[in-house]
Amino acid sequence: MDEHELPPVIAIDGPSGTGKGTIAQLLATELGWHLLDSGALYRIVGIAALQSGIDAADPQGLCSLARTMRVEFSTLFPGSITLDGKEISAQVRLEESGAMASRIAAIPELRAALLQRQHDFRQPPGLVADGRDMGTVVFPDALCKFFLTASPETRAQRRYKQLKDKEVNVSLPALLRDIQARDERDTTRAVSPLKPAKGALIIDTGPLAIEQVMAIVRQELVSYQDSRKESRQLFFSDKH
Ligand code: DC
Repeated sequence: MDEHELPPVIAIDGPSGTGKGTIAQLLATELGWHLLDSGALYRIVGIAALQSGIDAADPQGLCSLARTMRVEFSTLFPGSITLDGKEISAQVRLEESGAMASRIAAIPELRAALLQRQHDFRQPPGLVADGRDMGTVVFPDALCKFFLTASPETRAQRRYKQLKDKEVNVSLPALLRDIQARDERDTTRAVSPLKPAKGALIIDTGPLAIEQVMAIVRQELVSYQDSRKESRQLFFSDKH
């Protein structure tokens, strides 16, 4: 990479429950690249707003939080997140935090305020970015773009199983309703709506196990790498 070239990005977008968080995490680990969980940033702004009594309908207050909150994603313990020094990982993953994130994510000023923070994750040797608008808005120059989908019913089932395994009591119809409401908000908002980026590889993860999705992603990266006809290996060495 020459000194003016930005580190490469792989964008993985799609609605929640498609396995994109897991795929992004596995891929980042496999490549030894950085990981951006952009959904967590929206969730954290929502949590920070609750903690500091800022109204979710106050764009200025939310923007100021987005710029000043001190967030750390542990690289040592994936999934561990601190906000202003306090561990908040469990709270970040709550359904309520996701619903709140989806509401405030429709505010254009907040999206703009979080842009720099997201760009800051782009560090050598590369970044795997997980979200809704990674390939369309935040990193339009990403080398490879993926868009993961699955039916709302499949995604609700997956979430139901995850929560049951954690012994959290939930109702499947209520989860399905929440997912449908969130999809509706995320796909119809005026700014950066959830949609596949031009050139993104769309993968329906409904009938696939995680390892099968990973195999498709790897294959796509290898094809891209081969198409560049460079001796420098961008993603994988010859073992793949
Ligand atoms: O991926 P997630 O479930 O953690 O995301 C929570 C919400 O945040 C999601 O419903 C919409 C919003 N979001 C967004 O608008 N843009 C992103 N890049 C990531 C998430």
